[in-house]
Amino acid sequence: MLHDPNRVYVFDTTLRDGEQVPGCQLTTPEKIEIARELEILGVDVIEAGFPVSSPGDFMSVVEISKAVTAPIVCALTRANKMDIDVAVESLKYAKRPRIHTGIGASDMHIKHKFNSTREEILERAVEAVKYAKKSVEDIEFYAEDAGRADVEYLAQMVEAVIAAGATVVNIPDTNGYCLPDQYGAKIKFLKDNVKNIDQAIISVHCHNDLGLATANSIAGLQNGARQIEGTINGIGERAGNTSIEEVVMVLKTHQVLGLYTNVNSKNFFEMSRMVSTQMRMPVQPNKAIVGSNAFAHSSGIHQDGFLKNRENYEIIRPEDVGFPSASIVLTARSGRHALKFHLERLGYKLDKDELYETYKNFLTLADAKLDINDDDLQKLMSHRLVKN
Ligand code: KIV
Ligand code: ZN
Repeated sequence: MLHDPNRVYVFDTTLRDGEQVPGCQLTTPEKIEIARELEILGVDVIEAGFPVSSPGDFMSVVEISKAVTAPIVCALTRANKMDIDVAVESLKYAKRPRIHTGIGASDMHIKHKFNSTREEILERAVEAVKYAKKSVEDIEFYAEDAGRADVEYLAQMVEAVIAAGATVVNIPDTNGYCLPDQYGAKIKFLKDNVKNIDQAIISVHCHNDLGLATANSIAGLQNGARQIEGTINGIGERAGNTSIEEVVMVLKTHQVLGLYTNVNSKNFFEMSRMVSTQMRMPVQPNKAIVGSNAFAHSSGIHQDGFLKNRENYEIIRPEDVGFPSASIVLTARSGRHALKFHLERLGYKLDKDELYETYKNFLTLADAKLDINDDDLQKLMSHRLVKN
């Protein structure tokens, strides 16, 4: 298949890697609702679950397969026939099914998880892909813990699974271990050394244990990967997965990279709140792109600059991610310009001296109350009989 070399495919695993988080489990109807919203968001792939893990997860994959049309629906398996058979069955209604199978690629996993050897694991990887390929055309292979795997062995594995029929090769930094340049170099090595690499898409799947998931994913894309895996709000095992909204907005903001996705970023805020509510997982206020403070300006210096020209402190427009609007928050760190802005919004026009006096009273109040709202401002101005 011919791919636009600048197009980045977005693989959402909110319903699989995200749902593994303790306390985030969803019912099938809740998963269907999220899947439908992901389809509207425009993701290319929805990883709907790990069907062999439970009857409930199996049913969710079945029902999501019926519920969505445009995205590929993907089911996770380990590299064994039983998992693959169950996943194939769960995908029988999918218009565009994908099996995501794989096995550990690092010596750590090979020795201490599988008690095996590199040779045996390579064989199992190839067998799994060949077996899955008999039932489903689109096969993604994951080389678990690739972030810590020996790169020559990883290249050997990737070449063998592509020869066996893999259409996408996922290079997970399962433990969020890599530095961006290390991870980027790993992807580049595969691009340069795997003979048949152009027959598959390289996918990046980065965890956030060191807070580097987004940076690592971008490094992977800069070095030739063309699918990014992640979740809404970055939820996922331990410190989470790559946050899809962050990667999409990095690509939009840095158009010089020449890469784009088909995701409609204006749906991010709504999507984020839906996932947060259904999964009972609050979004941290300072979360990039979708946190409640992501577009709130609170210090005097920033507020003054923002009011002169919003681009002084705004590299993304809130409306581009569906955020209600930027806000100028009034606290004891706010300056006179911010106070004036809010008083004018409420209809009070103050001359320089009155603003000076009012600002002093405002600071006293703000030191005591932390956060000043419109009612507080009205009280502050209650000595005025008329507004102007
Ligand atoms: O982090 C990981 O390695 C995974 C694989 C199962 C793809 O989630
Ligand atoms: Zn993962």
